Parts: sequence; C-alpha cells; structure tokens
Amino acid sequence: MSEWQANVSGIDKRREKEYQYVREVLDFGWHNSSSAGFTRRLEEKFAETFGVKYAISNNSGTGTMHACLMAAGIGPGDEVIVPALTMASTALVVIHQNAVPIFADIDGETFNIDPADIRRRITPYTKAIIPVALYGMAPDLDAIMDIAREHNLVIIEDDAECLLGRYQGRLVGTIGDMASFSFQSSKHITGGGEGGMVITDNEEYARLVRKATVLGYATLTAQAGRTVVPREIRQDPQFERHDMLGWNYRLPELSAAVALAQLERGEELVSWRQNVAQMYAQVIDGCDWLVAQKVPPDVGHTYWCYTVLLKAEEKELTWHGFRDKYVEFGGDPIYGAWVPVYLEPVFREERFYGRGCPIHCPLYKGTPPVYERGLCPITEKIQPNLFQFRTNYDMERASHQMDALTKTIAYFNGKT
Ligand SMILES: Cc1ncc(COP(=O)(O)O)c(C=O)c1O
Repeated sequence: MSEWQANVSGIDKRREKEYQYVREVLDFGWHNSSSAGFTRRLEEKFAETFGVKYAISNNSGTGTMHACLMAAGIGPGDEVIVPALTMASTALVVIHQNAVPIFADIDGETFNIDPADIRRRITPYTKAIIPVALYGMAPDLDAIMDIAREHNLVIIEDDAECLLGRYQGRLVGTIGDMASFSFQSSKHITGGGEGGMVITDNEEYARLVRKATVLGYATLTAQAGRTVVPREIRQDPQFERHDMLGWNYRLPELSAAVALAQLERGEELVSWRQNVAQMYAQVIDGCDWLVAQKVPPDVGHTYWCYTVLLKAEEKELTWHGFRDKYVEFGGDPIYGAWVPVYLEPVFREERFYGRGCPIHCPLYKGTPPVYERGLCPITEKIQPNLFQFRTNYDMERASHQMDALTKTIAYFNGKT
C-alpha cells in the first residue's frame, strides 16, 4: 500500500485547520473596521506561495478577471482574445467590461488555446488575451507571451482550473501580467464554495484590481488585506470615497479562512488529483479510441479533471452510449465539455447590454464578430466528444471509477 493510499483514512483529520480557522472567525465576530485577519493572511500566503509581490482576493474567479480587465484599462471598442473551449466566464467578463470577445480555436491534442490561431485573430483593436490553463494544464505561454510583446497586449491568465501547475519550470500564474484563480467548490482549493484571487508583480495593476474589487474606494492600495477604508478616514463627513468605478467583489472572512487552510496543504490537494489522474491514465493505456489530453514536455498538469477525447467515429460509439454504459458499470455520471462559448445562446443571440453594446457600439471600430457555427472548427469537432472525468475522489471512490472504466472499455472492445 502506497503512502498516499495509507493516508486516505486521515482525510478528515487533515481538515482540522479549516475547522480551527472558521472557529477563529466566528469567535472574533463581525465588525465594520476590523476582522480576524484571514483575508490578509490568505493574500500574503498566496503571494508567498507564488513568489509574487501582490495577491488580491475576490469572491469569485469571474470577478477576478473582470477586475483585471478594468485594471488593464480595457473597455468599449477593445477586443480581447479568449479560447472557444472554456467555462463561459472567461468570455463573459469581456462583455461585462463592455469590450468584444474574439474567440480563438484550440489545439486538437492539448485542447488549449492555439497560439497560431491567436495570431490570426489579432486586429488593431486587440488589447488583451485571456489564455486558460484548461483542465489544469498551462497553454503554450511562451508563444502567447511572444505575441503579447509583439503587439503590446496585456495577458490575463485564467488559472481557475490550475493551482500550482508548472510551465517550463515556472509556476503557472507568474508568467502573464496578471493571473486569476477560482476557489469555487470543484477547484483544487475552495473558499467554502466560492472565492478567487488575482496575482501580479505590477503594483499599479494590483492597486487598480483592488479598487475595482472594492467599490473604487479612493484610499485602497495594493497592500495585502487592504479591503476597507480606515475608520478615521471614513468617519470624516467630507471624505470623498469613490474616485473610480468599482464593484463589491470582496471575499468574506469565512471563505478566506477556509481557503487559507486549504492553501496550506495545496501541494497535497493537487497531488491527490494527480494520483487519481495517473490511475485513469493506466486504465485507458492501450485503448486507441480514448485519447487523453496531451501534456507537452516540461508542463506540470494539475488535473482539475482528467479529460479524454472519445474517437467516436472509429468505434461507432456515441458520447451518450459510452456514458450510459460507464454509469451502468457503477461509474459516476461523467461531465461533458462546455458548448463552445460563442454558441451559447447569450453569445449567439447577442443578449448583452441594451442597444447592441458592446458589439454594435459606435465606439467599436472593428468588424463585429458573428457568433455562429464554423468560427472555431477544431473546438466544434472535439468538444462534443470530450469526457471530463472527476479527480477529486478518495481512494475508495476512485477505485470504483477505475473499475467501471475498465469494464466499459472491455465491453466496447468486445463488441468489435
Ligand atoms: C476556466 C474557468 N474560468 C473561470 C471560472 C470562474 O470561476 P468562478 O466560478 O469562481 O467564478 C471557472 C470555474 O468556475 C473556470 O473553470
């Protein structure tokens, strides 16, 4: 029995810190100007873990990216390139900021955004790129950074699905101008259901992200834990609070307490998922009609999920046919991948702000994109046949999944 297997029975014990920190917040209570300090501690720990100067907490991995766009000065008339295959927030935030999302196609093997296609989509209006570390694995960030330097673009890494991933020896999140993380409940670490973080080495971005996150308060700075206006300033009736547009994306202390406890054992939580991914890899090894997401050399995958492409045409198999059999053999229902974002009704039918903004906006001088089938052919071909297997299982449940997958593969192999 491996150390990892032996440790499984200790899983609840390892959550002691969560209980302890939450209790500390409850004991401290809620006050307008002071807190138990977990937001500050979480931000400091995050910055330390990544070796960056600034970490700014947020209540989601969506609000994070919205705040980053705001900090980067993106707005009406600007285009932002995003992958076609991602959770929709990557593109929704561009609309939130009244800019135009331009979708780039994916690489057929890594399923990540394809730098060559990014190049094809650049126009004089392109201001930023949001590359996603899809399923827990960094895209080709060197190639993306080269494009950014050539065209003077801001890079906002969407690392919602990737905690402590590696790219060419560097931590994913430290390569772009800013990086965004999510603590939503399915992620490597959670803030008790929701939460997020932005990291950056740029003080001005950090200050503006903080202000966008906390109502544009005039006195906020990049400093960790700086989420409220000091009382002595706030009490002054002459105090003009808001010198910039901002939202209330503050992370509650309770969420920060849970997220801090989880971050303190972040490596362990990530390696847990990597171990489960390894088990899936062993089961599908030799099956030529199930192809796992390709991991390029020198890239450390964190396996938010283990994603497999069903070569349906080779096996005369359907996505639903495979899934039904897997469930019949005792597997948990498997997730499919998100519909290409631009084919979601909200994009297809441009259900954005009134009067056509931001796509048909007088400030936008580019060619309005048409969000329709055919825009990103590789994504459209691959997406319907992806399986996103969960990796956040304990050993016993993981073994059940492996058993079901082994039987399902054997069943369909036996049919030919
Ligand atoms: C790639 C990606 N980006 C952004 C988000 C949004 O994060 P949140 O749910 O915390 O808003 C998620 C997941 O939820 C995601 O998977």
